[in-house]
Amino acid sequence: MEALSLHRIQLSIFATFVFLSLVWSSSYANSVHNTFLDCLVNHSESSHPITSAIFTPNNTSFSSVLQAYIRNLCFNTSTTRKPFLIVTPFHVSQVQGVVRCAKKHNLLIKIRSGGHDYEGLSYVASQPFFILDMFHLRSIKVDIDTETAWVHAGATLGEVYYKIGEKSKIHGFPAGVCPTVGVGGHISGGGYGNMMRKYGLSVDNVVDAQIVDVEGRLLDRKSMGEDLFWAITGGGGSSFGVVLAYKIKLVRVPETVSVFRVRRTLEQNATDIVYNWQHVAPTIDNNLFLRLTLNVVNSTQNGTKTIRATFVALFLGDSNSLVSLLNEKFPQLGLKQSDCIETSWLRSVLFWTNINITTPVEILLDRQPRSPVNYLKRKSDYVQKAISKECFEGIWKKMIELENVAFQFNPYGGKMAEIPSTATPFPHRAGNLWKVQYQTNWNEAGKEVTDHFINLTRILHKYMTPFVSKNPRGAFFNYRDIDLGINHNGENNYVEGKVYGVEYFKDNFERLVQIKTKIDPHNFFRNEQSIPVLPNPMEK
Ligand SMILES: Cc1cc2nc3c(=O)[nH]c(=O)nc-3n(C[C@H](O)[C@H](O)[C@H](O)COP(=O)(O)OP(=O)(O)OC[C@H]3O[C@@H](n4cnc5c(N)ncnc54)[C@H](O)[C@@H]3O)c2cc1C
Ligand SMILES: *[C@@H]1O[C@H](CO)[C@@H](O)[C@H](O)[C@H]1NC(C)=O
Ligand SMILES: *[C@@H]1O[C@H](CO)[C@@H](O)[C@H](O)[C@H]1NC(C)=O
Ligand SMILES: *[C@@H]1O[C@H](CO)[C@@H](O)[C@H](O)[C@H]1NC(C)=O
Ligand SMILES: *[C@@H]1O[C@H](CO)[C@@H](O)[C@H](O)[C@H]1NC(C)=O
Ligand SMILES: *[C@@H]1O[C@H](CO)[C@@H](O)[C@H](O)[C@H]1NC(C)=O
Ligand SMILES: *[C@@H]1O[C@H](CO)[C@@H](O)[C@H](O)[C@H]1NC(C)=O
Ligand SMILES: *[C@@H]1O[C@H](CO)[C@@H](O)[C@H](O)[C@H]1NC(C)=O
Ligand SMILES: *[C@@H]1O[C@H](CO)[C@@H](O)[C@H](O)[C@H]1NC(C)=O
Ligand SMILES: *[C@@H]1O[C@H](CO)[C@@H](O)[C@H](O)[C@H]1NC(C)=O
Repeated sequence: MEALSLHRIQLSIFATFVFLSLVWSSSYANSVHNTFLDCLVNHSESSHPITSAIFTPNNTSFSSVLQAYIRNLCFNTSTTRKPFLIVTPFHVSQVQGVVRCAKKHNLLIKIRSGGHDYEGLSYVASQPFFILDMFHLRSIKVDIDTETAWVHAGATLGEVYYKIGEKSKIHGFPAGVCPTVGVGGHISGGGYGNMMRKYGLSVDNVVDAQIVDVEGRLLDRKSMGEDLFWAITGGGGSSFGVVLAYKIKLVRVPETVSVFRVRRTLEQNATDIVYNWQHVAPTIDNNLFLRLTLNVVNSTQNGTKTIRATFVALFLGDSNSLVSLLNEKFPQLGLKQSDCIETSWLRSVLFWTNINITTPVEILLDRQPRSPVNYLKRKSDYVQKAISKECFEGIWKKMIELENVAFQFNPYGGKMAEIPSTATPFPHRAGNLWKVQYQTNWNEAGKEVTDHFINLTRILHKYMTPFVSKNPRGAFFNYRDIDLGINHNGENNYVEGKVYGVEYFKDNFERLVQIKTKIDPHNFFRNEQSIPVLPNPMEK
């Protein structure tokens, strides 16, 4: 309820702003032009002039630069507030200049790497702002001898995987499934993928980092110190500085891995299979990651709706072992050898993102998504106790009633349960069976349509309350969801920040607040869901 009314207030504030901003933005941009732009130019080194990295609304390519990394069409409308400037640095000195000048002129900065933030927080704001767009800063250096790589923030996961695969057939990296996701947001926010049960999150495999802090200093792990390093391995980058790069530890993968995608509807005993999945997926061999997605489809027999369960697997081993493993532990699935494909780890990435695995792997270098970008809403939850068959039947009924909703269940256990919950800001470790992602996609513009679909997602989330974690109800930070609450831009409100902060970070929230207070006491790096600074004791 609270989240809903917050959102309404936000919408009405937003509507007012849309009007004002049309009048306001051109004069605002001009005054900014005279001060901020001069400062940027003055700060840029002659060897790296910044003018070719600056886009004002006057530049003809302003809109295309803005739209190039929008991954949720809800934030691609004519009424979405636009930045007064986009800076696309191609050298670290320019990032330093941008931070120093923005701080001097007290301007709101939004940092964008891959643009996959579900709520668009890297490129929208409710106040005048500019975008620091990192897409030029995307070099990747893989060193097989030390089994590490330096990956820059603007690189995509597909580029990272491709560069690793170019050097080695027996190395990989545990990060997200979607190849167009950006390193900057993904790793700073935790980052998980289909090797999570074997190797943990991306941040469990980060050994060094480079960041530009609020003073414009370029720091590495040694010079930033362990507190700040800890914070940017799961606490999100945008509260702490501009992440330039991470040094990642590569992991070993077999030359041949196995994948499958198997579908079962309710008529094919999906309830029974899903019920059993809960006990198998989080406890089975760590080499197996078995994702489950659930959606509403038309029944083949008659005009009614049914639920379809899709099981997608990555097994770090051959298909004979996979089939015998599953026939022993999960006979209900009825997996056959013919369901399985053996391939390289790199090509398994294609399979998981629905690209035919015979496609040349260079497709991973495409920075634009293959499938059309949608309007979308996402939410998340954690399940800690198995759900009964009767309760699943209730869930199916609710899904069929709502129709345009889907679930993705990602099993935990394995390595995830071994890492202490304080090792990184990401707190959802032992005790979690799986993470739920709520997914609603649509492809029609308009406020009413948008409200309708967001509403469906919220209704399903509410329905799930008895089955998921509570006190606090957990959520995954990388699955950004502003329904959890917002910290209004420009203000620093610890109380507001604690609401979403505790859902994302649980007991790690307070340590994030302390680090934030120490390194950025004036809350320069902020967004709607950033880590707040400690309230001034005088104000309390
Ligand atoms: C299609 C799709 C698939 C996804 N799949 C997965 C998945 O498999 N696993 C998973 O864990 N997550 C997944 N996500 C979520 C994804 O990890 C997060 O949205 C992540 O934050 C995206 O990073 P980005 O750089 O692309 O996003 P951006 O929108 O550019 O940034 C996201 C946030 O990070 C901040 N940020 C970005 N770059 C920097 C930087 N250089 N320095 C400081 N702050 C920065 C931004 O300001 C913003 O707050 C998926 C998202 C989408 C849209
Ligand atoms: C944009 O162009 C107009 C008209 O040419 C000019 O007055 C204004 O200063 C320019 N604004 C910026 C931000 O460059
Ligand atoms: C930029 O440098 C010029 C010449 O050095 C100086 O006159 C001007 O005041 C500077 N502008 C800013 C915004 O620092
Ligand atoms: C945008 O336009 C300004 C002049 O208005 C120019 O100085 C700048 O180089 C242009 N940016 C790009 C990337 O072309
Ligand atoms: C975003 O909107 C513009 C029109 O304003 C459109 O040209 C562009 O194709 C849209 N982006 C996507 C990914 O659909
Ligand atoms: C569903 O389960 C029943 C009993 O467990 C079994 O007889 C039947 O063959 C199964 N149906 C399918 C499609 O697997
Ligand atoms: C299901 O059937 C209805 C009409 O009977 C159709 O409009 C809808 O597109 C179908 N949905 C899917 C997912 O095929
Ligand atoms: C539609 O088919 C399913 C599966 O065969 C069956 O369970 C259901 O009762 C049928 N519904 C109607 C309305 O006939
Ligand atoms: C993948 O592509 C190959 C070659 O074009 C084709 O023969 C095969 O049928 C495709 N597989 C799938 C699952 O579409
Ligand atoms: C959202 O759902 C609730 C409950 O079904 C309904 O009362 C409300 O009108 C819906 N709002 C929108 C915008 O669809």
